[in-house]
This record gives sequence, C-alpha cells and structure tokens, in this order.
Amino acid sequence: MSSPDRFLEGKSAIVSGAARGLGEGFARRLAEEGANVLMFDVLPEVETLASDIAASASGTIAGCTADVSKRGDVEAVVNLAVAEFGGIDILVNNAGTWKETLVDSSWEEALADWDFIMDTNVKGLLMLSRACVPHMQARGGGDIVNISSYYVLPARGTGTNPPRTDLYSASKWAINGFTDAWSKYLAKDNIRVNALCMGATDSPMLRGLYPDNELPAAMAEVVMTPGQIAGLMMDLLKDGRTGENVGAWVGEPIELGPVKEPHKRITG
Ligand SMILES: NC(=O)c1ccc[n+]([C@@H]2O[C@H](COP(=O)([O-])OP(=O)(O)OC[C@H]3O[C@@H](n4cnc5c(N)ncnc54)[C@H](O)[C@@H]3O)[C@@H](O)[C@H]2O)c1
Repeated sequence: MSSPDRFLEGKSAIVSGAARGLGEGFARRLAEEGANVLMFDVLPEVETLASDIAASASGTIAGCTADVSKRGDVEAVVNLAVAEFGGIDILVNNAGTWKETLVDSSWEEALADWDFIMDTNVKGLLMLSRACVPHMQARGGGDIVNISSYYVLPARGTGTNPPRTDLYSASKWAINGFTDAWSKYLAKDNIRVNALCMGATDSPMLRGLYPDNELPAAMAEVVMTPGQIAGLMMDLLKDGRTGENVGAWVGEPIELGPVKEPHKRITG
C-alpha cells in the first residue's frame, strides 16, 4: 500500500560499494523511503546486509557481490536490477577506494596505484552510469548521484588537496567532469546528475586512516555520519537541481543551500 511518507515508493535504485560505510547508509535510507534497492560490493557481506535491510523494507532489497571495475560485473548488476525491478530510476555511484600515493614513488608503484584507484573510482563510475542511462531514458528520467569528496571544493579551506593523495584526489576531480558534462547532455532526458562532496564521515575507510581504527577524540567530536549524508542525498533527490557539486563540511550545517550559479557549481 502506498504511504505518503515514503517518497520513493515504486522507484528503483542501485548503490555501489554498499556493504558498509556511506554506501550502507545510502542503501538504508533509500529502502526507508520505499525504494527497491540493489546494493552491491566486492565484499560478499553485502548480501547478508541486504537481507537484514529487506526485513523491514516495503520495497524489494537485493544484494550481490560484484566489482564495479569489471565491465562484466557491471552489466550483470544492471541486468539483475532490471530483471528484479523492471527498471532503474536512481544510481548512487558510491564505490570508492583510497590509498596514499606519492608523487616520487617508483614508476611501477605509481602505475599500479593508478589502476587500483582509477579503475574503481573513475572507470567503474563511468561503466555503471553508461549501463544505467538507457534504462533511465526508457523510464523518462532519473537521478545519478556521484560520490565525490571535499577535496574538489578548494574554496572551502586550506585543508583540501592534502599531499600524498594525488591519485585519489585526481579521481574525485575526474568525477567533476562526468557530473558537469552528463548533467548537461542528459537534461534532455530528464536525468539529473549531481555529486555529493563530503568531508570526514564515519566509515571503515576513514577509520582505516587511524591506529586501531579509532577516530581521534577531536575527529570523533565533529565527524559526520553516513545517515546525515544519506539525508542530504534524499534532499537532493527531492530538490530537482542538476549539475551541482553539493558540499558537506564538518562543523557546518548539512544542507543543500540555494541552487548555485553555474560558475560556482564546482567551487563549493
Ligand atoms: N568516509 C569519508 O570521510 C569520505 C569522505 C569523502 C568521500 N568519501 C567517498 O565516499 C565513498 C564511500 O566511502 P566510505 O568512506 O564509505 O568507504 P568504505 O571503504 O568504508 O566503503 C566503500 C565500499 O566500497 C566497496 N568497494 C571498493 N571497491 C569496490 C569495487 N571495485 N567494486 C565494488 N565495491 C567496491 C568497499 O568494499 C566498501 O564496502 C567513496 O567513494 C569515498 O571516496 C568518503
């Protein structure tokens, strides 16, 4: 039965990298809003998590183990979503990898790091989006939400673009290009494309930066939660804007703010 509280009833979504962290948060919130959700991850735990979420969801929730950097896996995921749900309305390009990289590391290491980071963060996002777009066009519209990073919001402060993260940072800047160009090209199909560019958010990736996966007290006080960022995603889905990099910054209100002028859309 349709519920007025469930904004996404009848809609279908795919979330990449949904076994934990932000991806889990996005999948949970989409499910709470009534959407059908296909969540996938390289970690097989995603399948048990999907079953747990399904237990209290009104939509259909499915989980599968798949690698977004592999074309065959991506096509299988999208085919599964279409078979299960009949179409795709929302794609959350969340899967991402992080690794410290040094500009003066060996060539071999640098090229291996390039593949490790770019294959998931950039090529994976490209492939999954390409596979979903025809299904969104067939539905008469849709939403692509790219999960970027505060590193692409240089106007926000001096803490951005830290050293030793050149490839991760470059991968997130690459997402700007997709977000900007796709938003313009796909506007004719009523497909909105935006990015969420958040600062520190409590997740296994963030905790992995610290000894024993413990956030330092100062960080623990200010860190954002996946639930808060998922709330921002929901505001974005309701809002209807396109082509924007929406920032979320520790210690600041987590809100969309007014629609930004085109020239400000990549500067926070
Ligand atoms: N946590 C933060 O502070 C923060 C800040 C800015 C941006 N981000 C971005 O948010 C996204 C989620 O990050 P998180 O912090 O939850 O990280 P996380 O490592 O905790 O979770 C990422 C998930 O993606 C999965 N994944 C990695 N490679 C994959 C692949 N090739 N195919 C399928 N799944 C894959 C991982 O197994 C993991 O479950 C990433 O894109 C990250 O860059 C995170």
